[in-house]
Amino acid sequence: MKQYLKHDPWLIVEEDFNRNYNEITESVMSLGNGRMGQRGNFEENFSGKTLQGNYIAGVYYPDKTRVGWWKNGYPEYFAKVLNAANWIGININIEYETLDLQTCEVRDFRRVLNMQEGYLERSFVALLKSGKEIQVNAKRFCSIVDDEAGAIRYSLTPLNFDAKITIEPYIDGGIRNRDSNYDETFWDEVRKETGYGEAFIELRTRKTGFHVCTGMCIEIEQDGARIDFQSQPIRQEKYVANRMTLECLQGQETTIYKYAVNLSSLNYDSDSVVSEARKYIQRITGKGFERMLIEQKQAWADKWKMNDITIEGDVAAQQGIRFSIFQLNQTYTGEDERLNIGPKGFTGEKYGGSTYWDTEAYCLPFYLATADQKVSRNLLRYRYKHLEKAIENAQKLGFKAGAALYPMVTMNGEECHNEWEITFEEIHRNGAIAYAIYDYVRYTGDVHYLAEYGLEVLIAISRFWSQRVNWSEAKQQYVMLGVTGPNEYENNVNNNWYTNYLAAWTLRYTTEAVGMVKELDAEKFNELCDRIHFREEKEITTARHIADHIHFPYDENRQVFLQQESFLDKELMPVSDIPKGQRPLNQHWSWDRILRSCFIKQADVLQGIYFFEDEFDPETLQRNFDFYEPMTVHESSLSPCVHSVLASRLGRKEKAYEMYLRTARLDLDDYNNDTEDGCHITSMAGTWLAVVKGFGGFRIKGDQVILDPNCPDNWESLAFKIRFRGALLEIKATQTEVSIQNFSEKNAEVLLYGKSLTVSAKSQQTVKRATGLPIKSRKK
Ligand code: BGC
Repeated sequence: MKQYLKHDPWLIVEEDFNRNYNEITESVMSLGNGRMGQRGNFEENFSGKTLQGNYIAGVYYPDKTRVGWWKNGYPEYFAKVLNAANWIGININIEYETLDLQTCEVRDFRRVLNMQEGYLERSFVALLKSGKEIQVNAKRFCSIVDDEAGAIRYSLTPLNFDAKITIEPYIDGGIRNRDSNYDETFWDEVRKETGYGEAFIELRTRKTGFHVCTGMCIEIEQDGARIDFQSQPIRQEKYVANRMTLECLQGQETTIYKYAVNLSSLNYDSDSVVSEARKYIQRITGKGFERMLIEQKQAWADKWKMNDITIEGDVAAQQGIRFSIFQLNQTYTGEDERLNIGPKGFTGEKYGGSTYWDTEAYCLPFYLATADQKVSRNLLRYRYKHLEKAIENAQKLGFKAGAALYPMVTMNGEECHNEWEITFEEIHRNGAIAYAIYDYVRYTGDVHYLAEYGLEVLIAISRFWSQRVNWSEAKQQYVMLGVTGPNEYENNVNNNWYTNYLAAWTLRYTTEAVGMVKELDAEKFNELCDRIHFREEKEITTARHIADHIHFPYDENRQVFLQQESFLDKELMPVSDIPKGQRPLNQHWSWDRILRSCFIKQADVLQGIYFFEDEFDPETLQRNFDFYEPMTVHESSLSPCVHSVLASRLGRKEKAYEMYLRTARLDLDDYNNDTEDGCHITSMAGTWLAVVKGFGGFRIKGDQVILDPNCPDNWESLAFKIRFRGALLEIKATQTEVSIQNFSEKNAEVLLYGKSLTVSAKSQQTVKRATGLPIKSRKK
């Protein structure tokens, strides 16, 4: 754990340059706008520890699979969102000395991510070997208004010298992914153009053939006034730049404005990406940096108006939740249904920017409650469009008759993962996709989704479960052998309780959904049956039989569900017995030792209880929580949030808070020693869950909003907003009262601490906590 970033409600602040942590800070200070993003790299040359990272949503490369021992059924490739052209670069040379923070002394360094207004700022004084001192102030953003563009303002002021300074703003397409399997380059150059203060380079991805044009335009000011400059165009392999040498006087500020665009053939004709990039860059340069920045601030203000969560009395907690909401908004806007949410977003290379079960299990509830309904519908449709590929994937593994196995990791629907114990065995992901359909329908009431798309997916997933189980003569029950549950610190186990539970649940829900769709639109249902050869009676009878007779490992003694059949054979001990300095286990223990240990990477049985909380009474939750929580090391970012929600439900405030900080500050404090690879974007939705579902006690039952706010003792208040079926509510809870403001035109039915309450349109209700009785009611 590292605590070098300052606590602040709206800013992430690094003071003093922490060279050794630079890659961590770069991840944390990443910028994005849903279409493109980048790590918090420096504009000027830097020869120290850095991972240069620029990414364009949806532009990927199928990197040939690399495994030691090939297994039949492995995918041929791993799709990665590519590290793309570096558009921020500005090299600075001061009379033969390169400005490089690795080689000079640095004073008054400050790097700040402004989450409220959506930009990254940096200032420092560099003391060069020659004794020259130069002040630098830099600000940049990825525009969320012009979402294929970014802009930089970079100012230099010589503090103790006059000199000729050579400035070289550039675009560098000679980029390689650090995680490339065969150390290949993924980009080919198509063409490049340079002009006065501008340059364009068009690159094409190998194999996938995406064209991307990255363009830049430069303007320069001295003492606040635009100047003309001589620029020398530079063209090298996959590199374009403009070089200019300027007379800079002591105390005089020279400011470089660099406008950049990234246009890809996902959105434009490949033939026209360069001409469109020219037009785009002219347009944003015409607007100018200041106006673009004003628009940026306004757009972020609008987002925060809908999304913000305020926590009074605890800055570390406040910063953590805002950081999570900020990064989620930077990663995915929901505007393009071809895109999804990569576990690292635009903050690093690991996990390749592909889609995991994280989207359905963690991110969907965030978008359901904070964004327009079409966003969560798009997330569901993304999987619907991959159904055919999921059926092919299952066929490849020997399943038939329309059974679908969704991939563990995917870009276009095809499986990319290549470790057999996950690729073939971590099949619970299929259940999360079914669960997401249920979650969406119960939240929005949009049953038509089932008729249009959802049921078809559910049937295909149910067909998979029906074939994946087998009847055990010995047990006289169905069993599911050779699986890996969410806890990846156990592989190839039999009867993972969570997977079996999800399978049985999916089978039942599919049966229910068949009934709903038949009633809603019989014609559509019949058409679906014909198209996918659904033999209703036979398939439903099988589904019911399996759901009623599947085996759930259980310990009668402790009365807890067993993570898997042989869990009790392990030497059971709490995490507190692990010798100091041996965590995270995955960085200290052999894999074999981890697999045999009782230590749990992430919520597994508890994940199931969290999903289906209505199906378990508080005593069951408590017993299972008390059994599993002490053995959980939370080495997946997806874990502490689930434990936090459940601890809140149990009224274990301290545990809930400890787990909350762990999820909310995971990257800010580098808990798992892996933030340098990128931030854990999908788990940030889990942080939101820990606040809203955990401390806020927010749930949905039928048409009713359920709220049981219970803030940590050190919080003065917690306020969050939720959208629900056309209503927009803000809930503010203090230690003594709860107020609910209804901003919408329709009344909202709320169950607050178990008591029904109608919050009329455009009004606010305040309820005292101890009694649950309304103390104030006023019309807005
Ligand atoms: C977790 C998975 C998760 C993946 C991507 C892994 O460490 O075990 O559950 O899907 O990270 O976030």
